[in-house]
Amino acid sequence: MAQTPPTPDPLWRAAGAFAALPEDEVIGVELADADGRPVKVALIRRGAAVHAVHDRCPHRGAPFSDLGLIDEDGTLLCGWHYWGFRLADGQHTQVASIKLCVLPTRVVDGAVQVDLSRPPPYPPPALVSLD
Ligand code: FES
Repeated sequence: MAQTPPTPDPLWRAAGAFAALPEDEVIGVELADADGRPVKVALIRRGAAVHAVHDRCPHRGAPFSDLGLIDEDGTLLCGWHYWGFRLADGQHTQVASIKLCVLPTRVVDGAVQVDLSRPPPYPPPALVSLD
């Protein structure tokens, strides 16, 4: 019988003021994991919600914070080749096998916090090539 891996304790990291996040823009921040290693995170504010994903497109590694866009449906579009990902769960909009790791967020006293208890693996996984 397969065992479910234990859920890690949250590792909340301060990621700036909520009021400083422009709506529907992709903002890159660098946080630190539990071992102090830098983790690049893309933050997206939509209304009262803040979404966070690792700032690296799985296609060719583009940082979402560099030319990334949010379309009218709230899809995160990579600025290099326009792959799209749903903000809610990181799912690629056309390829079922590709999904971003969406990081939990919260706002405490006006400050955005991101849970880095599941940092990206080191070294990063191989990039995806569909072309
Ligand atoms: S690098 Fe993101 S779509 Fe190609």
